[in-house]
Amino acid sequence: MPNLAWIQGLPKAELHLHIEGSLEPELMFELAKRNKLTLPYENVEAVRNAYQFDNLQSFLDIYYAGASVLITEQDFFDLAWAYFQKAKTDGVIHCELFFDPQTHTARGIAFATFINGLVAAQNKAQDELGISSSLIMCFLRHLSQEEAFATLAIAKPYVGYINAVGLDSAELGHPPEKFKEVFSACRELGLRCVAHAGEEGPAQYIWNALQYLEAERIDHGVRAIDDPALMRLLARHQVPLTVCPLSNIKLRVFDSMAQHNIKTMLEAGLCVTINADDPSYFGGYVADNYLACAEALQMNKQQLAQLARNSFEASFVGRVQREEMLKRLERYLAL
Ligand code: HPA
Ligand code: ZN
Repeated sequence: MPNLAWIQGLPKAELHLHIEGSLEPELMFELAKRNKLTLPYENVEAVRNAYQFDNLQSFLDIYYAGASVLITEQDFFDLAWAYFQKAKTDGVIHCELFFDPQTHTARGIAFATFINGLVAAQNKAQDELGISSSLIMCFLRHLSQEEAFATLAIAKPYVGYINAVGLDSAELGHPPEKFKEVFSACRELGLRCVAHAGEEGPAQYIWNALQYLEAERIDHGVRAIDDPALMRLLARHQVPLTVCPLSNIKLRVFDSMAQHNIKTMLEAGLCVTINADDPSYFGGYVADNYLACAEALQMNKQQLAQLARNSFEASFVGRVQREEMLKRLERYLAL
């Protein structure tokens, strides 16, 4: 059985990580103090105790409230730098980070404030930790397409810092096709496209993300299991799924890890990957997610290595970097 040390040594990419979801309660308190804000919690334990969720929406309410302590460029830098240090411990050598501009612009925070903080942390992570990274700008799907277009307009001067766009927040009732035109505009700017689909929403939303948004990866995608034709398509075209096992348990997508379908999807030949989603809220970073799957689903080293291999295959890096990362993985496996 693979142990935590072996998993942390396994070179991997993380492709589904909301940077706002890596805000640990300790940093939340520190930033609240620095920014002279009062939190509706007594202490760090009270925050952690509040992290009991019934579904996606019950999490989102707390997650957006938590992000309200992020005000200055330094705050965003500190947030991302804390994540990169944890990623280093977990063997992450490349990551593609989601950020939610609308969560911040709605509070009067300028686009430059968060993008500059995040980019400064990315540069430091490359220089000091050897971790490469890119940014994926997410549109909040509970808001309108018009608001997504307004966000894209203010993002335009910074588009050189952004690699892709995504779609997150409340899935049910907000199908992918609601954002068809804005995704098309993003592609014209040279941005790659991904979308959350099939987390709480049905398999049909995965079809729609592929058809209407031309999503190159599906975030979560676990409901694909309900649709054999979709499973065949995902396998044939090796459409990556960025699965987040601990998130799925916390948000009750599955009752227990033993019931998670990631191993079934891996065995069906899908390009599935393991990621943390919102590690501070869901009780674990990426290596914890690998370990939880290994233990509950009896996954062996070869299967975990395949998940890591998939993370590089699914990433948006160029061919040379991909091959370098894959070689690094094979060297580790040969040890
Ligand atoms: N699903 C949808 N929106 C999100 C998530 C998620 O898991 N995490 C942060 N925003
Ligand atoms: Zn997510």
